[in-house]
Amino acid sequence: MSEKLLVTSALPYANGSIHLGHLVEYIQTDIYVRYRRSIGDDVTYVCAADSHGTPIEVNAGKAGVTPREFVERYRTEQHADFQRFGVDFSTYYTTDSEENRKWAWRIWDALKARGLIYKKSVEQLYCEKDARFLPDRFVKGTCPRCGTPEQYGDVCEKCGTTYDPRELKDPRCALCASSPVVRKSDHAYVDLKKVEPAIRAWVEGEGHLDAAVREQVKGWLDDLQDWCITRDAPYFGFPVKDPDFPGKFIYVWLDAPIGYLSSAEHFFASEAPAGERLAPSAFEATYLAPGSPSRLEHFIGKDILRFHAVFWPAMLGAADLKLPERLAVHGHLTVNGEKMSKSRGTFVTARTYLDAGLDPQLLRYYYAANLGPGVSDIDLSLEEFRNRINADLANNVANLASRVAALVERAGGELDGEPEKGIADVTREALRLALPSYQALEYREVVRLVNQVANACNKRLQEGKPWEAPASAESRRLLVSCARALRAISVMLWPVMPLFADELCAAFGQTRPGTWTAGFDPFSGPPVVARAKPPQIARLDAKQVARLVAAPEAAPAPVPATGLIGFDDFARVELRVALIRAAVRVPKADKLLQLTVDVGEPAPRTIVAGIAASYPEPEWLVGKRVVVVANLEPRALRGITSQGMLLAAGDPPRILQVDDGIAPGTRVK
Ligand code: MSP
Ligand code: ZN
Repeated sequence: MSEKLLVTSALPYANGSIHLGHLVEYIQTDIYVRYRRSIGDDVTYVCAADSHGTPIEVNAGKAGVTPREFVERYRTEQHADFQRFGVDFSTYYTTDSEENRKWAWRIWDALKARGLIYKKSVEQLYCEKDARFLPDRFVKGTCPRCGTPEQYGDVCEKCGTTYDPRELKDPRCALCASSPVVRKSDHAYVDLKKVEPAIRAWVEGEGHLDAAVREQVKGWLDDLQDWCITRDAPYFGFPVKDPDFPGKFIYVWLDAPIGYLSSAEHFFASEAPAGERLAPSAFEATYLAPGSPSRLEHFIGKDILRFHAVFWPAMLGAADLKLPERLAVHGHLTVNGEKMSKSRGTFVTARTYLDAGLDPQLLRYYYAANLGPGVSDIDLSLEEFRNRINADLANNVANLASRVAALVERAGGELDGEPEKGIADVTREALRLALPSYQALEYREVVRLVNQVANACNKRLQEGKPWEAPASAESRRLLVSCARALRAISVMLWPVMPLFADELCAAFGQTRPGTWTAGFDPFSGPPVVARAKPPQIARLDAKQVARLVAAPEAAPAPVPATGLIGFDDFARVELRVALIRAAVRVPKADKLLQLTVDVGEPAPRTIVAGIAASYPEPEWLVGKRVVVVANLEPRALRGITSQGMLLAAGDPPRILQVDDGIAPGTRVK
């Protein structure tokens, strides 16, 4: 029986370009959506740009445009990138919409009506220079637990401790580096304990969460913290309309998931094909009301689980809406075994992938081959990517198709009849197992089944040698078996590689069934004909794949310690202008200062320098320009990694200063 589904992927922040990490999620979801559509379900796949919040407001300011213009640029770019990767959203809307404002106010009112909102005065860090309260990510300082400098206001990346930004040692405004003050402000909180039983019942519900995820969420429910849902101006978001909270804005994480509903409502009201439009009330009755005849399924990454498994059900429940039927949570992408990193050149955007001339379907295939239902991370190893594409697609599936097509032609063009039992059995079994594998998000199993079928066919071709007598009865039987097994492959592979799969089928004069059911038999159908050249997959070479990542920086050559040096030796020392952003004493080391310097790179560097004796007030150094050796091997000093050295002279040493007009990062020659 066909089902109605509303499926979502998380809404990307309209604050940057889509990268290969994002694509894990959107490709995972899109494969599921296509699978559901191929079995005859009625799926609406909703996504939108997440348009509110402080980072967007700040970055729009830096770019010199209004937040609205800023998010619209990214929304358009993101949507185009998703389309290039075959991600087939029904709509890609925005959370900064009238529909979303209406929904956000409605859910606020519902929370309020249930007595779930209370007011609390809270102390927060405030930057007097920027005239704003600083969100956790806009404060940097030294971890109160392990002493690692340059940590954000919420969690230490080194020791994992979470804390309040007020606990940071020597906190700094990340925008202007000045020291923030503590200020009080009234905020709205959601009293989650009151709704804990309802959330727990949903968490325990059959099929809602994967077992491991469920345990993690139950841990949070055992120790529920109330949730702050307002922010102070300046903010890009919806104003709170509740007179109890004058001048406040709705926190972006309240209106973001609401964006799922408002974007779907917008789709049905104005974007859906004419015959499928629904007025907001009909949409609500069909997709949101408790007991409505549809499934609501969200796909998200593990980093945003708490918002979706604790806060979101609380919001939906308060508004008398049904809770999701499934929350599918995936892990993170690593590149060559490590977190994607701009400085290591492994932060790969969708654009970089396309610019390398790679077919987006190959990435979809690689992700499918590595995706299961769990939250384990998936690694994009460039070597494995290349090997996988070459072994499975180029050498196995596509090679099979081109061999069979050539032989069908030689055998006289049109073939029909009973298949070989061996091939038919493997193929029917694969089709049977692929259905529940897709349903369980076990895509890697589907990929295995596809290759099993192609292998079986290739093996039979080797044994049967149909090229020796293409027109014989045995040869014709073998060829018809292989061509129809390829039809089965195209059905199984379509959600992953839709264009490739359709071309594969068409090459043999076959079509995919309108609806793929358990009863589908690829061995009965129209005769096999060599209609077109089957789709080819070119083997990937290492060079092409290497274009995904930036070239690693050449290792600095050793510099001799004494004697005369040639110019080449001098040229190897990379001297650059650096701007000092912060300077603090290193605890228990009276000669050392820890400096944060801008060398014109995406992230500032930490440099430990033995100049403390000359600068009793390290503050004085902030804003000064100095020269650093930028290609010096990093070195740990008092447990702090120093990423370079600065030039100084005298005893005690003082810094060598540079003119104001020279930009950080400029090479000194
Ligand atoms: N705007 C929020 C989501 C709001 S949903 C109501 C957000 N945006 S995001 O752009 O940071 O991330 C969007 C999705 O992409 C998230 O589900 C996130 O987990 C996923 N990914 C972002 N980077 C990722 C990887 N490196 N690997 C896998 N998925 C990752 O969070
Ligand atoms: Zn500031």
